[in-house]
Amino acid sequence: MLIHNNERFIINNEFAKEVARGLNDKQKQISPKFFYDKKGSRLFEEICMQPEYYLNRIESQILKNSVDEILKIIGGQEISVIELGNGNSLKTRILLGPFLAKLKVVTYFPIDVSLKMLKKSIGDLFREYANLQIYGICSDYVSGLVKINEFMKLKSKIPNKKLIIFLGSTIGNFDPKEAMNFLHSIARFVRKDDLLLIGIDLEKDKSILDRAYNDKKGITAKFNFNVLARINRELEGEFNISNFEHKSFYNIHKHRIEMHLESKLDQQVRIGAIEKMFYFKKGETIHTENSYKYSLPRLNRLVKKAGFQVIRNFTDPEQQYTVILLKKVSNATKS
Ligand code: AVI
Repeated sequence: MLIHNNERFIINNEFAKEVARGLNDKQKQISPKFFYDKKGSRLFEEICMQPEYYLNRIESQILKNSVDEILKIIGGQEISVIELGNGNSLKTRILLGPFLAKLKVVTYFPIDVSLKMLKKSIGDLFREYANLQIYGICSDYVSGLVKINEFMKLKSKIPNKKLIIFLGSTIGNFDPKEAMNFLHSIARFVRKDDLLLIGIDLEKDKSILDRAYNDKKGITAKFNFNVLARINRELEGEFNISNFEHKSFYNIHKHRIEMHLESKLDQQVRIGAIEKMFYFKKGETIHTENSYKYSLPRLNRLVKKAGFQVIRNFTDPEQQYTVILLKKVSNATKS
């Protein structure tokens, strides 16, 4: 964020630094994490309501169909549910409602970098579920898990058994190696009877994938353009957004949707906060996102390498999407 306050400027260094570095690369790039300012988060919610973007709809249906079985696998009378990136907790309710109805103690730890988002969803959940204990953690995922482990050691009334949930196919926005490292770091914080529930989009016909990321209403395009608008708002950028085109396509060889912003002409753009001018050739792109799609065997190999075993694999009848329930393999590192 760039706060202009009587001649004083406080620059959001991480955003500025990454934009400066990414736009200097041969293949220009901006990390997808910068999509999610207030406007981008709202646009993403809108994407999830588009008919072409099937991911969230199918995931919710799978969760509804599998919650009873998840409860059986949890066993016992209590659980600590840890959600990585809780967003607005809409899908979490599909699990929390039945959990609260069947179990004696349910503690919910949403971890999110956005304090605003956390406050809002915690407030809503408090009003809805009187018997739910909630502890919001404003942090990145791995540090959040460390904090929860420390907190659990201090508080005797918190259920020891953990169910970590990571929904929405967010893991697909990591490249496979990052995803493996991420799962590996989670494995360090779970015990052998803890569970990990992950939602992941599966590989499918290219035309369905291309449509999902090029919705008719142009919401995904707006979401993509918003990163340039954000540079204009926060980093004194001078992008003329109409000089760029939203490009999104499934790259079959790399098993991923690639999202780009393509320059319609030769142009130069100044970004004031980093005092730099960037040059774009006609047809040159800024790579803004990858969204990896997995086949079940590739997914199995990935989780196995990271130290987990698949307990259950919940899918829809057409196998478009999967929600997998994992446990740490018994010989992996103990927390
Ligand atoms: C958040 N993430 C899982 C979405 C995806 O499908 O990769 C982000 C998104 N990008 C364009 N549409 C949705």
